Amino acid sequence: MNFQNILIEKQDKTSIITINRPDSLNALNGSTIKELSNALDLLENDADCRVIIITGSGQKSFVAGADIKEFSDFGQHEAEELARNGQNILFDRIENLKKPVIAAVNGFALGGGLELAMACHIRYASENAKLGLPEVTLGLIPGYGGTQRLPKLVGKGLANEIIFSAKMISAERAKEIRLVNEVFSFEELLPKTKELATIISRNSPQGITKAIAAVNASDNNGFELEIKSFGELFDTNDKKEGVSAFLEKRKPNF
Ligand code: COA
Repeated sequence: MNFQNILIEKQDKTSIITINRPDSLNALNGSTIKELSNALDLLENDADCRVIIITGSGQKSFVAGADIKEFSDFGQHEAEELARNGQNILFDRIENLKKPVIAAVNGFALGGGLELAMACHIRYASENAKLGLPEVTLGLIPGYGGTQRLPKLVGKGLANEIIFSAKMISAERAKEIRLVNEVFSFEELLPKTKELATIISRNSPQGITKAIAAVNASDNNGFELEIKSFGELFDTNDKKEGVSAFLEKRKPNF
């Protein structure tokens, strides 16, 4: 598949998607959203890929939001479609992907950029990262899931403060409020993110797929899904290998 706005690189079992529109600080226009969605289709079905990392090109920006220039003339109907389609093909798609997606936030993560990072299963950031939801400064609100995902990550009070004030927060503050898991120097960000991806990629893919769905269901009373998934995994080769390896005192080979 030919991509204009993103790059895909494979290292062992990890695939790194780099959003590559540095002149627009990697803003998400329609074609970038479509390409990201196509890339996920590709990687989800690629047996050699176990973990996906999403990052931005350059040292300044992860993603500086939805492309403001592209939607500046939109009316109500087009804007609603933009948000609905984006959520369906990209943001919700990432959250429910069968493989873990880690955001390596390498600079500005604003508006749709922070929403993209929040849709990912795990977030690491570099010290220079600045995060925020500035939509109300444009007379808008977040439209790619920000009002839903931010309160779940940081609680309603802090989410309200971040959304209403539109202020950017530092990487350090983002870690303090659990918006990102870890903060590294810019140089260390990708190596550390890949290190985590490698650890994850050694574990049972079937287990991780079930865990993603079960953790997501925690938003909606997921106890029953957890019980069912736990049972279903008992009939898989991953479980056979994992349990045998433990009993035989060796490392599992998934
Ligand atoms: N959509 C479209 N273009 C964007 C963009 C966005 N979200 N964010 C940045 N750009 C473009 C700028 O228009 C500029 O293009 P130009 O050189 O053709 O004028 C280029 O990226 C560089 O941005 P610039 O504003 O000059 O950089 P800066 O260092 O002065 O400021 C930001 C960086 C991130 C603070 C600033 O670009 C910004 O506020 N961006 C918008 C953030 C936002 O509101 N996102 C939510 C959208 S819903």
